[in-house]
Amino acid sequence: MEFMRAVVLDRYGDADVLSVGRRQVPEPLPTEVRVRVVAAGVNPVDWKTRNGDGMASVLGDPPQVLGWDVSGVVDAVAPGVTRFAVGDPVFGMPWFPRAAGAYAEYVTAPSRHFAARPDELDEVAAAALPLAGLTAWQALVDTARVRAGQRVLVHAAAGGVGHLAVQIAKNLGAYVIGTATTARHRRLGELGLDEAINYQGTAFEQVVEPVDVVLDLAGGEVATRSLDALRPNGLLVSVARPADDTFARAADRGLRTARVLVEPDGHGLEKLAELVQAKRLRPLVDRTFPLDQAAEAHRLSETGHTFGKIVLTV
Ligand SMILES: NC(=O)c1ccc[n+]([C@@H]2O[C@H](COP(=O)([O-])OP(=O)(O)OC[C@H]3O[C@@H](n4cnc5c(N)ncnc54)[C@H](OP(=O)(O)O)[C@@H]3O)[C@@H](O)[C@H]2O)c1
Repeated sequence: MEFMRAVVLDRYGDADVLSVGRRQVPEPLPTEVRVRVVAAGVNPVDWKTRNGDGMASVLGDPPQVLGWDVSGVVDAVAPGVTRFAVGDPVFGMPWFPRAAGAYAEYVTAPSRHFAARPDELDEVAAAALPLAGLTAWQALVDTARVRAGQRVLVHAAAGGVGHLAVQIAKNLGAYVIGTATTARHRRLGELGLDEAINYQGTAFEQVVEPVDVVLDLAGGEVATRSLDALRPNGLLVSVARPADDTFARAADRGLRTARVLVEPDGHGLEKLAELVQAKRLRPLVDRTFPLDQAAEAHRLSETGHTFGKIVLTV
Protein backbone atom coordinates (compact mmCIF):
# COMPACT_ATOMS: atom_id res chain seq x y z
CA MET A 1 0.00 0.00 0.00
CA GLU A 2 1.38 3.41 -0.97
CA PHE A 3 0.79 6.58 1.00
CA MET A 4 0.79 10.28 0.09
CA ARG A 5 0.73 13.61 1.88
CA ALA A 6 -2.64 15.39 2.08
CA VAL A 7 -4.17 18.28 3.98
CA VAL A 8 -6.77 16.59 6.13
CA LEU A 9 -9.85 18.14 7.69
CA ASP A 10 -10.65 16.12 10.83
CA ARG A 11 -13.65 18.22 11.86
CA TYR A 12 -15.42 21.30 10.55
CA GLY A 13 -14.12 24.55 12.03
CA ASP A 14 -11.68 27.44 11.60
CA ALA A 15 -8.42 27.26 9.63
CA ASP A 16 -6.63 25.55 12.55
CA VAL A 17 -8.48 22.29 11.86
CA LEU A 18 -6.36 21.75 8.71
CA SER A 19 -3.32 19.54 9.17
CA VAL A 20 -1.00 17.55 6.93
CA GLY A 21 -1.57 13.82 7.21
CA ARG A 22 -1.12 10.57 5.32
CA ARG A 23 -3.70 9.09 2.97
CA GLN A 24 -3.66 6.07 0.74
CA VAL A 25 -2.72 6.85 -2.89
CA PRO A 26 -5.99 6.40 -4.84
CA GLU A 27 -6.36 3.87 -7.68
CA PRO A 28 -8.18 4.99 -10.85
CA LEU A 29 -11.31 3.07 -11.87
CA PRO A 30 -12.17 2.43 -15.55
CA THR A 31 -12.46 5.76 -17.48
CA GLU A 32 -10.45 7.54 -14.76
CA VAL A 33 -6.97 9.00 -14.65
CA ARG A 34 -4.72 9.43 -11.65
CA VAL A 35 -3.04 12.83 -11.61
CA ARG A 36 0.08 13.70 -9.64
CA VAL A 37 -0.89 17.11 -8.29
CA VAL A 38 1.65 19.89 -8.82
CA ALA A 39 -0.54 22.79 -7.69
CA ALA A 40 -4.03 23.09 -6.18
CA GLY A 41 -6.17 26.23 -6.35
CA VAL A 42 -7.88 27.67 -3.28
CA ASN A 43 -11.47 28.90 -3.63
CA PRO A 44 -13.90 30.48 -1.14
CA VAL A 45 -15.98 27.27 -1.28
CA ASP A 46 -13.00 25.49 0.31
CA TRP A 47 -13.08 27.51 3.53
CA LYS A 48 -16.87 27.77 3.52
CA THR A 49 -16.95 23.96 3.43
CA ARG A 50 -14.22 23.76 6.08
CA ASN A 51 -16.51 25.90 8.28
CA GLY A 52 -19.35 23.38 7.81
CA ASP A 53 -21.15 25.50 5.18
CA GLY A 54 -20.36 25.50 1.42
CA MET A 55 -20.46 21.90 0.19
CA ALA A 56 -20.21 20.32 3.66
CA SER A 57 -23.69 18.81 3.32
CA VAL A 58 -22.56 17.08 0.09
CA LEU A 59 -19.26 15.84 1.55
CA GLY A 60 -20.73 14.53 4.79
CA ASP A 61 -18.82 13.81 7.98
CA PRO A 62 -15.04 14.46 8.17
CA PRO A 63 -12.34 13.33 7.77
CA GLN A 64 -12.19 14.92 4.33
CA VAL A 65 -9.54 16.27 1.96
CA LEU A 66 -10.61 19.63 0.53
CA GLY A 67 -9.80 21.24 -2.81
CA TRP A 68 -11.23 21.05 -6.33
CA ASP A 69 -8.69 22.86 -8.54
CA VAL A 70 -6.01 20.55 -9.89
CA SER A 71 -2.93 21.18 -12.03
CA GLY A 72 -0.65 18.20 -12.53
CA VAL A 73 0.63 15.36 -14.62
CA VAL A 74 -1.18 12.15 -15.58
CA ASP A 75 0.40 9.40 -13.53
CA ALA A 76 -1.83 6.42 -14.41
CA VAL A 77 -4.65 5.76 -16.90
CA ALA A 78 -7.33 3.11 -16.40
CA PRO A 79 -9.08 1.17 -19.21
CA GLY A 80 -11.41 3.31 -21.31
CA VAL A 81 -9.29 6.47 -21.24
CA THR A 82 -8.41 7.55 -24.79
CA ARG A 83 -7.62 11.24 -24.42
CA PHE A 84 -4.59 11.14 -22.12
CA ALA A 85 -1.41 9.14 -21.61
CA VAL A 86 0.96 8.92 -18.65
CA GLY A 87 3.09 12.06 -18.52
CA ASP A 88 0.51 14.44 -20.04
CA PRO A 89 0.16 17.81 -18.25
CA VAL A 90 -3.50 18.42 -17.38
CA PHE A 91 -5.70 20.75 -15.36
CA GLY A 92 -9.27 20.48 -14.16
CA MET A 93 -12.00 20.77 -11.53
CA PRO A 94 -12.96 17.15 -10.98
CA TRP A 95 -15.96 15.82 -9.09
CA PHE A 96 -17.45 19.12 -7.89
CA PRO A 97 -19.53 19.30 -5.70
CA ARG A 98 -18.46 15.83 -4.48
CA ALA A 99 -15.04 15.66 -2.83
CA ALA A 100 -12.06 15.81 -5.21
CA GLY A 101 -9.32 15.92 -2.57
CA ALA A 102 -7.06 18.29 -4.51
CA TYR A 103 -5.02 19.29 -1.43
CA ALA A 104 -2.99 16.11 -1.82
CA GLU A 105 -0.22 14.58 -3.90
CA TYR A 106 -2.58 12.48 -6.08
CA VAL A 107 -6.20 12.61 -7.22
CA THR A 108 -8.24 10.23 -9.38
CA ALA A 109 -11.21 11.36 -11.47
CA PRO A 110 -13.01 10.76 -14.77
CA SER A 111 -10.63 11.75 -17.57
CA ARG A 112 -13.24 14.08 -19.04
CA HIS A 113 -13.12 16.23 -15.92
CA PHE A 114 -9.67 17.34 -17.17
CA ALA A 115 -8.21 19.09 -20.21
CA ALA A 116 -4.69 19.24 -21.60
CA ARG A 117 -2.68 22.08 -20.10
CA PRO A 118 -1.40 24.33 -22.88
CA ASP A 119 2.25 25.43 -22.84
CA GLU A 120 1.14 29.04 -22.42
CA LEU A 121 -0.24 28.20 -18.97
CA ASP A 122 2.36 27.37 -16.34
CA GLU A 123 1.65 24.71 -13.71
CA VAL A 124 0.71 27.20 -11.00
CA ALA A 125 -1.51 29.38 -13.20
CA ALA A 126 -3.26 26.21 -14.41
CA ALA A 127 -4.41 25.57 -10.82
CA ALA A 128 -5.84 29.09 -10.69
CA LEU A 129 -8.07 28.62 -13.72
CA PRO A 130 -10.47 25.63 -13.47
CA LEU A 131 -13.15 26.41 -10.85
CA ALA A 132 -13.11 30.18 -11.24
CA GLY A 133 -12.76 30.06 -15.04
CA LEU A 134 -15.51 27.47 -15.50
CA THR A 135 -17.79 29.48 -13.22
CA ALA A 136 -17.27 32.58 -15.34
CA TRP A 137 -17.62 30.62 -18.59
CA GLN A 138 -20.74 28.73 -17.57
CA ALA A 139 -22.33 31.96 -16.26
CA LEU A 140 -21.50 34.27 -19.17
CA VAL A 141 -21.46 31.89 -22.15
CA ASP A 142 -23.74 28.97 -21.27
CA THR A 143 -26.24 30.80 -19.06
CA ALA A 144 -26.34 34.48 -20.05
CA ARG A 145 -25.28 33.87 -23.69
CA VAL A 146 -23.62 37.28 -23.69
CA ARG A 147 -23.45 38.81 -27.18
CA ALA A 148 -21.27 41.51 -28.71
CA GLY A 149 -22.41 44.99 -27.80
CA GLN A 150 -24.19 44.00 -24.59
CA ARG A 151 -23.41 45.78 -21.35
CA VAL A 152 -22.25 43.48 -18.53
CA LEU A 153 -21.71 44.46 -14.90
CA VAL A 154 -19.34 42.16 -12.97
CA HIS A 155 -19.36 42.49 -9.17
CA ALA A 156 -16.12 41.68 -7.33
CA ALA A 157 -14.31 42.11 -10.63
CA ALA A 158 -10.87 41.74 -9.02
CA GLY A 159 -11.60 38.39 -7.37
CA GLY A 160 -10.79 34.90 -8.53
CA VAL A 161 -13.90 34.57 -10.67
CA GLY A 162 -14.27 38.27 -11.43
CA HIS A 163 -10.91 38.92 -13.08
CA LEU A 164 -11.51 35.98 -15.42
CA ALA A 165 -15.13 36.99 -16.06
CA VAL A 166 -13.98 40.47 -17.11
CA GLN A 167 -11.65 38.96 -19.71
CA ILE A 168 -14.21 36.42 -20.96
CA ALA A 169 -16.96 39.04 -21.27
CA LYS A 170 -14.53 41.26 -23.17
CA ASN A 171 -13.75 38.39 -25.56
CA LEU A 172 -17.48 38.04 -26.21
CA GLY A 173 -17.51 41.67 -27.35
CA ALA A 174 -19.35 43.10 -24.36
CA TYR A 175 -18.87 46.50 -22.77
CA VAL A 176 -17.69 45.47 -19.30
CA ILE A 177 -18.20 47.38 -16.07
CA GLY A 178 -16.80 46.10 -12.77
CA THR A 179 -16.93 46.90 -9.08
CA ALA A 180 -13.69 46.91 -7.08
CA THR A 181 -11.80 49.19 -4.72
CA THR A 182 -9.90 52.01 -6.44
CA ALA A 183 -6.46 50.42 -6.02
CA ARG A 184 -7.58 47.63 -8.41
CA HIS A 185 -8.87 49.82 -11.22
CA ARG A 186 -5.69 50.27 -13.23
CA ARG A 187 -4.87 46.56 -13.39
CA LEU A 188 -8.47 45.71 -14.19
CA GLY A 189 -8.26 48.17 -17.08
CA GLU A 190 -5.22 46.25 -18.34
CA LEU A 191 -7.36 43.11 -18.32
CA GLY A 192 -9.92 44.87 -20.52
CA LEU A 193 -12.38 46.39 -18.07
CA ASP A 194 -14.10 49.36 -19.76
CA GLU A 195 -15.42 51.05 -16.63
CA ALA A 196 -14.61 50.55 -12.94
CA ILE A 197 -16.80 51.56 -10.01
CA ASN A 198 -15.43 51.81 -6.47
CA TYR A 199 -18.14 49.97 -4.54
CA GLN A 200 -16.92 51.53 -1.29
CA GLY A 201 -18.45 54.97 -1.03
CA THR A 202 -20.39 54.79 -4.31
CA ALA A 203 -23.82 53.23 -4.76
CA PHE A 204 -23.11 51.40 -8.03
CA GLU A 205 -26.80 51.17 -8.94
CA GLN A 206 -27.04 54.98 -8.90
CA VAL A 207 -24.07 55.66 -11.18
CA VAL A 208 -24.13 52.83 -13.72
CA GLU A 209 -26.04 53.18 -16.98
CA PRO A 210 -28.48 50.25 -17.32
CA VAL A 211 -26.91 46.91 -18.21
CA ASP A 212 -28.13 43.74 -19.95
CA VAL A 213 -26.47 41.30 -17.56
CA VAL A 214 -25.23 41.48 -13.97
CA LEU A 215 -22.79 38.76 -12.91
CA ASP A 216 -23.07 38.85 -9.13
CA LEU A 217 -20.01 37.52 -7.32
CA ALA A 218 -20.66 39.49 -4.12
CA GLY A 219 -24.14 38.26 -3.12
CA GLY A 220 -26.46 39.38 -0.32
CA GLU A 221 -27.84 42.89 -0.70
CA VAL A 222 -25.58 43.54 -3.71
CA ALA A 223 -27.81 41.13 -5.64
CA THR A 224 -30.98 42.98 -4.66
CA ARG A 225 -29.49 46.38 -5.45
CA SER A 226 -28.33 45.04 -8.81
CA LEU A 227 -31.96 44.85 -9.96
CA ASP A 228 -31.86 48.67 -10.16
CA ALA A 229 -28.91 48.45 -12.57
CA LEU A 230 -30.69 46.20 -15.10
CA ARG A 231 -32.45 47.17 -18.29
CA PRO A 232 -36.05 45.96 -18.77
CA ASN A 233 -35.88 42.16 -19.31
CA GLY A 234 -32.27 42.19 -18.08
CA LEU A 235 -30.68 39.15 -16.45
CA LEU A 236 -29.18 38.76 -12.98
CA VAL A 237 -26.82 35.77 -12.83
CA SER A 238 -26.20 34.95 -9.17
CA VAL A 239 -22.99 33.07 -8.45
CA ALA A 240 -22.68 34.19 -4.82
CA ARG A 241 -25.74 33.63 -2.62
CA PRO A 242 -28.25 36.48 -3.08
CA ALA A 243 -30.46 37.97 -0.34
CA ASP A 244 -33.52 35.75 0.12
CA ASP A 245 -36.10 37.99 -1.55
CA THR A 246 -33.98 38.98 -4.58
CA PHE A 247 -35.44 36.56 -7.13
CA ALA A 248 -39.05 37.25 -6.07
CA ARG A 249 -38.45 40.98 -6.40
CA ALA A 250 -36.88 40.47 -9.81
CA ALA A 251 -39.90 38.47 -10.98
CA ASP A 252 -42.24 41.25 -9.77
CA ARG A 253 -40.32 43.67 -11.98
CA GLY A 254 -40.18 41.41 -15.04
CA LEU A 255 -36.44 40.86 -14.69
CA ARG A 256 -34.83 37.49 -15.35
CA THR A 257 -32.66 35.59 -12.88
CA ALA A 258 -30.42 32.54 -12.90
CA ARG A 259 -28.48 30.76 -10.15
CA VAL A 260 -25.23 29.14 -11.29
CA LEU A 261 -23.45 26.30 -9.53
CA VAL A 262 -20.29 25.37 -11.41
CA GLU A 263 -20.08 21.86 -12.94
CA PRO A 264 -17.12 19.72 -14.05
CA ASP A 265 -16.70 20.46 -17.75
CA GLY A 266 -13.76 19.22 -19.82
CA HIS A 267 -15.14 20.95 -22.90
CA GLY A 268 -15.36 24.28 -21.06
CA LEU A 269 -11.77 23.82 -19.88
CA GLU A 270 -10.69 23.34 -23.51
CA LYS A 271 -12.42 26.61 -24.44
CA LEU A 272 -10.58 28.38 -21.61
CA ALA A 273 -7.30 26.83 -22.76
CA GLU A 274 -7.92 28.10 -26.31
CA LEU A 275 -8.36 31.65 -24.98
CA VAL A 276 -5.13 31.33 -23.00
CA GLN A 277 -3.28 30.07 -26.09
CA ALA A 278 -4.63 33.03 -28.08
CA LYS A 279 -3.34 35.33 -25.29
CA ARG A 280 -6.88 36.54 -24.65
CA LEU A 281 -7.16 35.16 -21.11
CA ARG A 282 -4.68 35.03 -18.27
CA PRO A 283 -5.31 33.94 -14.70
CA LEU A 284 -3.56 36.08 -12.11
CA VAL A 285 -2.07 34.45 -9.03
CA ASP A 286 -2.14 36.75 -6.01
CA ARG A 287 -0.08 34.39 -3.81
CA THR A 288 1.17 30.84 -3.57
CA PHE A 289 1.66 28.79 -0.40
CA PRO A 290 3.24 25.36 0.07
CA LEU A 291 0.73 22.59 0.79
CA ASP A 292 1.56 22.49 4.50
CA GLN A 293 0.52 26.16 4.80
CA ALA A 294 -3.03 25.54 3.60
CA ALA A 295 -4.37 27.10 6.80
CA GLU A 296 -2.54 30.37 6.00
CA ALA A 297 -3.91 30.27 2.47
CA HIS A 298 -7.44 29.88 3.85
CA ARG A 299 -6.98 32.81 6.22
CA LEU A 300 -5.89 35.01 3.32
CA SER A 301 -8.82 33.91 1.13
CA GLU A 302 -11.21 34.56 4.00
CA THR A 303 -10.24 38.26 4.05
CA GLY A 304 -12.28 38.54 0.83
CA HIS A 305 -9.87 41.10 -0.63
CA THR A 306 -7.42 39.19 -2.81
CA PHE A 307 -6.69 40.09 -6.44
CA GLY A 308 -6.93 36.99 -8.61
CA LYS A 309 -6.24 33.59 -7.10
CA ILE A 310 -4.45 31.81 -4.27
CA VAL A 311 -2.65 28.56 -5.15
CA LEU A 312 -1.05 25.77 -3.08
CA THR A 313 2.09 24.18 -4.46
CA VAL A 314 2.36 20.48 -3.75
N1 LIG B 1 -21.93 29.23 -7.48
C1 LIG B 1 -20.72 28.81 -7.82
O1 LIG B 1 -20.57 27.83 -8.53
C2 LIG B 1 -19.53 29.61 -7.38
C3 LIG B 1 -18.30 29.42 -8.02
C4 LIG B 1 -17.22 30.21 -7.66
C5 LIG B 1 -17.37 31.17 -6.65
N2 LIG B 1 -18.56 31.29 -6.02
C6 LIG B 1 -18.76 32.33 -4.98
O2 LIG B 1 -18.61 33.59 -5.62
C7 LIG B 1 -17.99 34.51 -4.74
C8 LIG B 1 -16.74 35.09 -5.41
O3 LIG B 1 -15.77 34.06 -5.56
P1 LIG B 1 -14.26 34.44 -5.86
O4 LIG B 1 -13.49 33.18 -5.94
O5 LIG B 1 -14.19 35.39 -6.98
O6 LIG B 1 -13.91 35.20 -4.49
P2 LIG B 1 -12.62 36.04 -4.07
O7 LIG B 1 -11.51 35.79 -5.02
O8 LIG B 1 -12.38 35.78 -2.63
O9 LIG B 1 -13.11 37.55 -4.22
C9 LIG B 1 -12.31 38.57 -3.70
C10 LIG B 1 -12.70 39.89 -4.32
O10 LIG B 1 -13.98 40.30 -3.88
C11 LIG B 1 -14.00 41.71 -3.93
N3 LIG B 1 -15.10 42.18 -3.08
C12 LIG B 1 -15.33 41.88 -1.79
N4 LIG B 1 -16.50 42.46 -1.39
C13 LIG B 1 -17.01 43.11 -2.47
C14 LIG B 1 -18.18 43.91 -2.69
N5 LIG B 1 -19.07 44.14 -1.71
N6 LIG B 1 -18.39 44.42 -3.92
C15 LIG B 1 -17.51 44.20 -4.91
N7 LIG B 1 -16.37 43.49 -4.75
C16 LIG B 1 -16.13 42.95 -3.55
C17 LIG B 1 -12.65 42.12 -3.47
O11 LIG B 1 -12.32 43.34 -4.09
P3 LIG B 1 -11.51 44.47 -3.29
O12 LIG B 1 -10.25 43.80 -2.80
O13 LIG B 1 -11.28 45.53 -4.29
O14 LIG B 1 -12.40 44.85 -2.13
C18 LIG B 1 -11.74 40.98 -3.95
O15 LIG B 1 -11.00 41.31 -5.10
C19 LIG B 1 -17.73 33.73 -3.45
O16 LIG B 1 -18.82 33.92 -2.58
C20 LIG B 1 -17.69 32.29 -3.91
O17 LIG B 1 -18.00 31.37 -2.90
C21 LIG B 1 -19.64 30.54 -6.36
